[in-house]
Amino acid sequence: MGEVVSTSLSNGIAVVRVDKPPVNAMDQSVRAGLKRAFSELRAKPEVKAIVLACAGRTFIARADIKEFDTGIAEPGYHEVFRLIEDSPVPVIAAIHGTALGAGTEVSLACHYRVADERAALGLPELTLGIIPGAGGTQRLPRLIPFEAAAEMILSSKPANAIQAKKLGLVDELVKGDVAEGAIAYAKKLVAGGNGPRKTRERPVVGVEKVAETLQSKRAQVAKTMRNRQSPIKLLEALQAAAAMPFDAGLEVEKAASAGLQQSTEARALRHLFFAEREVRKIPGLSASVKPRPIDSIAIIGAGTMGGGIAMVFANAGLPVTVVDAKPEVLDRGRATIRKNYERSVSRGSLAAEQMEARMKLITPALDYAGVAKADLVIEAVFEDMNLKKQIFAKLDQIAKPGAILGTNTSTLDIDMIAAVTKRPQDVIGLHFFSPANVMPLLEIVRAKMTADDVLVTALEIAKKVRKVGVVAQVCYGFIGNRMMDPYAREAEHCLLEGATPEQVDSALEAFGMAMGILAVFDLAGVDIGHLTRVARGNGFHNDPTYYRPSAMLTERGWLGQKVGRGYYRYEDGKRVVDQEVIKLLHAEGGRLGVPQRKPSAAEIRERCLYAMINEGANILAEGIAFRASDIDVVYASGYGFPRYRGGPMFYADTVGLKTIYDRILEFQRTLDRRYWQPAPLLEKLAKTGSSFGQWQAEHAR
Ligand SMILES: NC(=O)c1ccc[n+]([C@@H]2O[C@H](COP(=O)([O-])OP(=O)(O)OC[C@H]3O[C@@H](n4cnc5c(N)ncnc54)[C@H](O)[C@@H]3O)[C@@H](O)[C@H]2O)c1
Repeated sequence: MGEVVSTSLSNGIAVVRVDKPPVNAMDQSVRAGLKRAFSELRAKPEVKAIVLACAGRTFIARADIKEFDTGIAEPGYHEVFRLIEDSPVPVIAAIHGTALGAGTEVSLACHYRVADERAALGLPELTLGIIPGAGGTQRLPRLIPFEAAAEMILSSKPANAIQAKKLGLVDELVKGDVAEGAIAYAKKLVAGGNGPRKTRERPVVGVEKVAETLQSKRAQVAKTMRNRQSPIKLLEALQAAAAMPFDAGLEVEKAASAGLQQSTEARALRHLFFAEREVRKIPGLSASVKPRPIDSIAIIGAGTMGGGIAMVFANAGLPVTVVDAKPEVLDRGRATIRKNYERSVSRGSLAAEQMEARMKLITPALDYAGVAKADLVIEAVFEDMNLKKQIFAKLDQIAKPGAILGTNTSTLDIDMIAAVTKRPQDVIGLHFFSPANVMPLLEIVRAKMTADDVLVTALEIAKKVRKVGVVAQVCYGFIGNRMMDPYAREAEHCLLEGATPEQVDSALEAFGMAMGILAVFDLAGVDIGHLTRVARGNGFHNDPTYYRPSAMLTERGWLGQKVGRGYYRYEDGKRVVDQEVIKLLHAEGGRLGVPQRKPSAAEIRERCLYAMINEGANILAEGIAFRASDIDVVYASGYGFPRYRGGPMFYADTVGLKTIYDRILEFQRTLDRRYWQPAPLLEKLAKTGSSFGQWQAEHAR
């Protein structure tokens, strides 16, 4: 491998090239290389301009995230960026791929920016719980309007090159080799007598809108980014950019950044960043296992999930046959898919031709002819064991040898499903989440007989369709739904104790859940969970209070949004309190002898979350999940758990396992003790002052 940063010089134009695969992250070696290169070029009078370019697939795409924990090694970002900005000759950034974070910040310290027309530039620091800390908050509003700068950093969304040019972030767009384009641009600058143009010396753009922007962004943060510090700190730094000279503003940015890197929010987000990469490592699986080729897919069942899953594969360019028993379901499914795509087209995120191309990839069918050719079959019929067994027996006869047979079941025993085939090694759970085309999680359930190469193929499929694939073992509900059961059980019980649906949901939403669980039930259909529990043998411990509210609503046909009422009423698309439901459930609590304790918001939150965490500990001890961090990924990407809390297991560690354990013992005394048995693993870790994180490190397999 060559040098990380190399310099070449031709006709007075120097090119400084960063080559640090895979994404040219700006680690210490890159900073040291840039420092050396720019220092050396200063001493060369023949240099008239400098182009900063990158090898490989992208411009510098981020900072070195590991340094957040170890501390930034010398030379620091500010020193290097100042050296670049102080260059006596113009410096031009040549941007291709995605300039992100420190990559965008270094480009701001350059005097000019030339970008490939397919490139993008962004400052997504908030997704890691920090703010741009290498001058980004001070330089960006000196190049683009203050309001756009605030929006760009708050949203963490990169601007594409065309938008960036319009905003003034990029000076010129080029097609083809961006370094060549930047060299040509440099020559023009030199010929025109244009010198360096320091961003830090420019005034903030659109100062007249600063006060108004800060006010509206503060309101937005309070509403949509609650419980988080980094957006508030960002707005402080941006305000300083507008109110102070550059160097003083930089000090504010530094002070604002200082505490953030070690904040719980940033540690939680970093934890998930690494956890999402770790999920692909399967203990005990040899690296020599190769995936099977997957070129065509068949889906059985064109309902809610089947249609969504078909879109997932069509979006990845793969042909899909969708089989359903009913022609009207096929027509409806196809119409829904088209409507979904049309919405993307009208939003501008999909071209009309792309929509047509994707629709063409999806073939509806009433028979199984298309199934015989498929490399991968995914069953998504009703959640009914007998029906699934029938379907798999049929697939066993029809599917070609080596085809992977997946099931989208949410709870059922996949070993039993596999057992009806003569090829259980080819059977695996592929649990997509609703809406499948939107939700980023794919729970991959490895059954007892699942072959290693089938598992590896499932992980490859997840990557191909841009989902986070997390591997679980077979048990009721796998990782996600199994932990959901005690969480929602407590929520429902609180209703019988006198809490209203709104109180329960708002306690969970205040914690940061994307949606309260009762509103989720209304959205998904109250009957869905109820029927699953009935099929399982409703009534845990023969407890008549177990999920009683769901049962009562289902009995009355109050199935949620699809019928206009469930835990709430739905009027003109708005969720409103339903007094009738509140009274009904309170009365039922009284009838069943449930003590009317009217739990506080804190108690609701603790009961739901600690019950979930306790189950998570059981899942870990049983080996259903390989790692505590896998559970966190499942919850952050499939269940609306706030990312800035790091997932349930990481969150538990931040609360302290002893605190949680003690509280569970208290619930054991005051609530239904049958449900409040501390998981042995939680008990052990709590008593030894350990954590799930530590346990995971010690059990790295
Ligand atoms: N809805 C969710 O939120 C969700 C989420 C994850 C997983 N799941 C699971 O996905 C599966 C499907 O759920 P859904 O919500 O899409 O159900 P759904 O009722 O919307 O669709 C099921 C479809 O299967 C079809 N079908 C039934 N028998 C068939 C047969 N013999 N051959 C071909 N098609 C047949 C039905 O006509 C229906 O269109 C279930 O196992 C469910 O547990 C659902």
